[in-house]
Amino acid sequence: MFRSHTCGELTLDQVGKKVTLAGWVQKNRDKGFMIWVDLRDRYGITQLIFDEERTPKSIMDIAKSLGREFVIQVSGDVIERESKNEKILTGEIEILVTDLKILNSALLPPFTIENKTDGGEDLRMKFRYLDIRRNPVKENLIFRHKVTMSVRNYLSEKSFVEIETPYLIKSTPEGARDFVVPSRMNEGEFYALPQSPQTFKQLLMVGGMDKYFQIVKCFRDEDLRADRQPEFTQIDCEMAFVDQEDVLNTFEGMIHHLLEEFHGVSVGKFPVMNYDDAMRRYGNDKPDIRFGMEFGELNEVSQHRDFNVFNNSELVIGIAVPGGNSYSRKEIDQLIDWVKRPQVGALGMVYVRCNDDGSFKSSVDKFFDQQDLAQWATKTGAEPGDLICVLSGEKDKVRAQLSALRMELAERNGMRKPNEFAPLWVVDFPLLEWDEETQRYHAMHHPFTSPKHDQIDLLATDPASVKANAYDLVLNGNEIGGGSIRIHDSETQSMMFDYLGFTPEEAESQFGFLMNAFKYGAPPHGGIAFGLDRLVAILGGQETIRDFIAFPKNNSGRDIMIDAPSPIDEDQLDELHIKLKS
Ligand code: AMO
Repeated sequence: MFRSHTCGELTLDQVGKKVTLAGWVQKNRDKGFMIWVDLRDRYGITQLIFDEERTPKSIMDIAKSLGREFVIQVSGDVIERESKNEKILTGEIEILVTDLKILNSALLPPFTIENKTDGGEDLRMKFRYLDIRRNPVKENLIFRHKVTMSVRNYLSEKSFVEIETPYLIKSTPEGARDFVVPSRMNEGEFYALPQSPQTFKQLLMVGGMDKYFQIVKCFRDEDLRADRQPEFTQIDCEMAFVDQEDVLNTFEGMIHHLLEEFHGVSVGKFPVMNYDDAMRRYGNDKPDIRFGMEFGELNEVSQHRDFNVFNNSELVIGIAVPGGNSYSRKEIDQLIDWVKRPQVGALGMVYVRCNDDGSFKSSVDKFFDQQDLAQWATKTGAEPGDLICVLSGEKDKVRAQLSALRMELAERNGMRKPNEFAPLWVVDFPLLEWDEETQRYHAMHHPFTSPKHDQIDLLATDPASVKANAYDLVLNGNEIGGGSIRIHDSETQSMMFDYLGFTPEEAESQFGFLMNAFKYGAPPHGGIAFGLDRLVAILGGQETIRDFIAFPKNNSGRDIMIDAPSPIDEDQLDELHIKLKS
């Protein structure tokens, strides 16, 4: 037996017991006649004591040679500690060691294995297995496991069946870029790794498995950010014989369950906002509604003077920053520089200080009087003591810019509280979105999403105005899930491919299997997929998904620990029939 107990469980109750523990040396304090070692495993830390008078000399000698992160096994007696540590469960006892074995020595780790480490991001990624020994990373992984188990149990209890779908599938041009895998046995042909199991889950509905889920890896070759990894995990779900309401209710139930289980909070019925309102009120289809700062539209009250910047703009909008009148001139200038950064792209920012006495002082006092500014305050909901920030320009761009500013200010002012949860359904997304690059419409969600029932005819005359039976679940300003009610008849599906610019031959060669399946009795169906990494990170009070993935990739899509991607042998390339350009 390697160990009788873990390093996280012994208390005064076990005093007098003989125990055997195994773990890593966290710390070694050598006072000559006495040595204390902190022994660590996944469960906690237990203090070991070696004492010249009570410990055999041979054991004392080994204890003196212990370095950080050595793997050891010890046996000894549980005794009460003289100076207790109330911060940890095992803080009232220590082990008087009678036997010690070094199971493995260790090189000095390149960073400290402490809650707050001195290791930078790259170093910690290169030695991720050491990083995982640290409490914050370890706790995140355990938390992920618990959320995953809870989701599995919840869905299973609701009669969902977990079914695996293939990873080697067919490449399609829709959505993000595919990761492709060359086929050795089929010269010149490639598999793609799935961006999601979308078509397979729909085929499972045709197959009669009316409630499916899968906790599944998905692969997308896209630009990476804090909330995006090239391989990530979805809780992928599909149901037959449902309408939008049924899907929303089912998965609202799942998120309720998780919030209750992991935070003990009951958030009530989730609000529902349509896409157009979300864009108008927050400039964003995933608004963080934990705080206000809603947009005030100011065209009517700002385009009647000689201020041409506003007069020539499609949209003038502002937000009220609570308490922002206390910002110094320098702070406001920094804010203006912030919105002018290329990542945000505003040309400038007009501001209005709302004084405590009800008067206003603005950066455009030359053009606007107190009455004008009072109207701006009304439209933005500004109170005395606030600062109104106003941007103007082309509608979509200026909304995105003000949305970025709103989030930045909320972040700076501590309004994005990690332990507060504000879910929101965003519904009625546009079916199509115009792509400047290819000069054609793309499906905003995916080409299997059904248009609103009464809007199909509009596809021919005003495609941009057609709304879809598509929905996202937003949690604290993050899109944690998205789905739709699907098209389930082959005519509508082929019409949709036609609108999306597929020739009948292209539609047939890429999605013929699906349209064909729809001819064999496809039930009405719909579903949703949640980003598990995002969901876990947010439930864990954070937003960087890397911290909740055991072996994540960096922002260039590299795993710097195993050094992937990497070149492959000439022989391997030959076998795969691949010639690299020299
Ligand atoms: P969608 O593309 O919206 O829908 O993806 C569903 C959810 O997956 C998460 N997600 C990601 N998480 C981390 N890194 C990424 N690169 C990444 N991309 C997406 C998001 C997102 O909401 N098949 C459809 C679902 C359906 O219609 O049922 C789909 O994949 O949280």
